[in-house]
Amino acid sequence: MADWWDADGRRHRKQFSSSAAAREHEHRETALAHAERASREMKLAARTGGGKRSQPKPETGTGEPAKGKLGVMIPGMGAVATTFVAGVEAIRKGIAKPIGSLTQMGTIRLGKRTDGRSPKVKEFVPLAGLDDLVFTGWDIFEDNMYEAASNAGVLDQRLLDQLKPFLTSVTPRSAVFDHNYVKKIDGPNVKKGKSKMDLAEQLRDDIREFKKTSGAARLITMWCGSTESYIEPTAAHQSLKAFEKALRENDEMIAPSMIYAYASLIEGVPFANGAPNLTVDLPVMLELSRKNEAPICGKDFKTGQTLMKTVLAPAFKARLLGLSGWYSTNILGNRDGEVLDDPGSFKTKEESKLGVLEHILQPGLYPELYGNIFHKVRINYYPPRGDNKEGWDNIDIFGWLGYPMQIKVDFLCRDSILAAPIVLDLVLFLDLAQRSSELKGLGIQEWLSFYFKSPMTVPGLYPEHDLFIQLMKLKNTLRHLKGEELITHLGLEYYD
Ligand SMILES: NC(=O)c1ccc[n+]([C@@H]2O[C@H](COP(=O)([O-])OP(=O)(O)OC[C@H]3O[C@@H](n4cnc5c(N)ncnc54)[C@H](O)[C@@H]3O)[C@@H](O)[C@H]2O)c1
Repeated sequence: MADWWDADGRRHRKQFSSSAAAREHEHRETALAHAERASREMKLAARTGGGKRSQPKPETGTGEPAKGKLGVMIPGMGAVATTFVAGVEAIRKGIAKPIGSLTQMGTIRLGKRTDGRSPKVKEFVPLAGLDDLVFTGWDIFEDNMYEAASNAGVLDQRLLDQLKPFLTSVTPRSAVFDHNYVKKIDGPNVKKGKSKMDLAEQLRDDIREFKKTSGAARLITMWCGSTESYIEPTAAHQSLKAFEKALRENDEMIAPSMIYAYASLIEGVPFANGAPNLTVDLPVMLELSRKNEAPICGKDFKTGQTLMKTVLAPAFKARLLGLSGWYSTNILGNRDGEVLDDPGSFKTKEESKLGVLEHILQPGLYPELYGNIFHKVRINYYPPRGDNKEGWDNIDIFGWLGYPMQIKVDFLCRDSILAAPIVLDLVLFLDLAQRSSELKGLGIQEWLSFYFKSPMTVPGLYPEHDLFIQLMKLKNTLRHLKGEELITHLGLEYYD
């Protein structure tokens, strides 16, 4: 017995003269179904590269393996830096997990969805291992990493005490600091010099000394210092020649972070900028970075509120929902919050936070939806909260026929807990870049935009802020380096 349906969808029972004939019919139907499936699979295989799985092209640019120690040098041993270093040590000791880190926990799909290949990122590209990381830093305060982490109050004292011998061993070198650039703080551990060039020379000595004493095979500099006052590029920042002259002449438009960047890049050391200061976002630094094959990236870690903004805004644009206003306020009580209470430092941060919406929503292309947005960002210093920030957003959107709606986001986050895995990933990826024949001479590493509020791009190119475009850019860069097919998500081949 078998069922069949007529053209009007009515079900009928098929009658057979004997049970043998019915079985024969069922066998034939099953064989037909198998043959059809086999034919579909063969077609799919042919379209997806002719074999069981797509074939990688030759590897083009991951470069040398990560042999030896990697020295991580951090100007600014505050909340973010200590949470990062203590975290790495806790993970190395097996007492915590690297949650939030793409290099440690992330996977990367290779080939077609039918290939079943998704290795861990750290197994796919040759990254330094956590055991190979060695650290140093600079700060205007004399606290070692244990004391600084205890003061920052981000991590439990019980955890810090388990890491005490290691954290105590990381002591700050004296800093290059100018109170005019960070008005809310001052400290005793500061270098003296005849000129800014002299200070740069002292930093270069520190770098060489650290490389020698730590036995590091390669170095990275990661700016985790305070946000400096807002300035715009001047003639002094336009070329190496002009910048070096300005260093010798103590030009006031050269901020301390730029002196660290110069010292690193001239020593051939890559530099990442976690704050919104200009620092490496200047023609002189691009010139130096390319010349010395020392990659640069920045600026301003994308951690809490802006992370959410760059997830939500692309969703509104994808669905053509209009936006009339976005009010973002923050209350935080750590030292970063205190520094940002100064109007000059706040302006630097504000610029970095404000750019995001315009680039994602493209009001020029969608004037009726995004041509008239009221976007406001406030940061309020509120000591009781410490590092546990509250990022509160009120979003006014409108839909079909212009009807208004509201969204509220209240992110009770922990600033440095969100920043630490970003620091780790940047350290490891910048080190990959400096070993990669394809990446090391490019200067700006746009593929690392994923980690920044204000991603750097070459002049004239607008940045990508959409988190998911940034992630695709990052993973496709890794696939490209390894000669794997880029993933476009077209997917027609599965449906022929
Ligand atoms: N935590 C986050 O989520 C986050 C996100 C984006 C950006 N940031 C930026 O990262 C930076 C660090 O944040 P944090 O919370 O650790 O701040 P923090 O105030 O705890 O630490 C900054 C440290 O830098 C030191 N410092 C300042 N100027 C210096 C100089 N010239 N040389 C050496 N040391 C210097 C300060 O003494 C301080 O110890 C800030 O600029 C902040 O705006 C943080």
